[in-house]
Amino acid sequence: MNLIETVSYEEMSIKAAEIIFEKVKNKPASTLGLATGGTPLGTYRELINIYNKERTSFQHLSTINLDEYVGLADDHPQSYHMYMHEHLFKYLDIPASQTHLPDGLAKDLDGECARYDKLIEQLGGVDLQLLGIGQNGHIGFNEPGTLFNTRTHVETLTESTRKANARYFSNQSDVPTHAITMGIQSIFQSREILLLASGIKKAEAIRRLIEGDVTEDFPASILKNHANLTVIADREALSKSTI
Ligand code: PGA
Repeated sequence: MNLIETVSYEEMSIKAAEIIFEKVKNKPASTLGLATGGTPLGTYRELINIYNKERTSFQHLSTINLDEYVGLADDHPQSYHMYMHEHLFKYLDIPASQTHLPDGLAKDLDGECARYDKLIEQLGGVDLQLLGIGQNGHIGFNEPGTLFNTRTHVETLTESTRKANARYFSNQSDVPTHAITMGIQSIFQSREILLLASGIKKAEAIRRLIEGDVTEDFPASILKNHANLTVIADREALSKSTI
């Protein structure tokens, strides 16, 4: 594990954006695995800044997102389709046909999961996967107890995850109960993984990631076995870890 400690959320975001930008510069036809949530917002902002400053093009890039809520249409304000459009895609020149998220309204959810796995394969696998980490160690929406060998599947969200995400909805009962998520195996197969964590709320999860055992009770722990994992965490997120 390559661990980078930063003083702040801003520094974490800048470092992450630089790593992503370098990747795309070196391989313009990369497949980037993208994440949603509060953590990557600064990274996307910085990536847009570099993109504008360098007057570059991302037209050959493909993106594949980790997850989408079941039951939300693409244009629902809290859908991850909308998040990605609002915070990243609308600022870049990636053709819409090259940006991918699971379809939360698919009638045949199992068929949608199979389609997504096939798509990842057709794209040649993920070159660089950006990840946040849940307070309970989830990656994507793979909650504690998910088997390490899962591929894209429908996950029942835990109460703690629904509570953490309730801040985006008018009330907690509006938070969807299920999501389609890339599985732990699908994530692990990425050639490179960049995991970000910021703030005191993530300190215990980061401590467990760094110091704990590899166990399905803590999904992110499998990443310790990955040959190319970089963790960028700020001081607060590292405040409970002995490093
Ligand atoms: P957050 O979510 O970035 O909003 O904290 C991370 C996650 O739950 O994976």
